[in-house]
Amino acid sequence: MPDSQVNLQKKTGIKVLMVCLGNICRSPTAEAVFRYQVEQLNLEEKIEIDSAGTGSWHIGHTPDKRASQAAANRNYDLSLIRARQVNNTDFEEFDYILAMDKENLRNLIALSPAEHHSKISLFLNAGDSTFDEVPDPYYSGDEGFELVLDLVEQASKNLLAKISQENNF
Ligand code: 4NP
Repeated sequence: MPDSQVNLQKKTGIKVLMVCLGNICRSPTAEAVFRYQVEQLNLEEKIEIDSAGTGSWHIGHTPDKRASQAAANRNYDLSLIRARQVNNTDFEEFDYILAMDKENLRNLIALSPAEHHSKISLFLNAGDSTFDEVPDPYYSGDEGFELVLDLVEQASKNLLAKISQENNF
């Protein structure tokens, strides 16, 4: 097999992992919103997206109904997402690992080898918002889920611009 084909098979694209605590509210929302924006720019062959939680309580569960409903009201579909926990191979495989809050960030850094720490950052790090974390909406009312969507929509735009610039898309 020619070298060029070997390289094509090895490099499938840029891989982005959204991470929160339970993987049933914030990171599935971020996965769906970011995927929508990637598809709008026809970049779905170049950017793969997944999400995971640092905790294990909700493994295999569908997203929280309140998150699914709030997302559906803005035409984002969470129905195919199932919660999973972050694992060691994620740190090898993913190019960008985005934490929804500082506790998620601390846990990801603690779980991963130092060589992968540069891939891990807060999702809201662009500095154009009063928020630097996506607040956990689990014990909030509906307004918490609307805030998650507002923050995630803006942060996804910023992330897509950053990834496009860094990878010459
Ligand atoms: P998420 O929200 O991290 O945005 O998925 C939560 C979901 C579940 C729990 C906490 C936060 N929980 O304590 O079960």
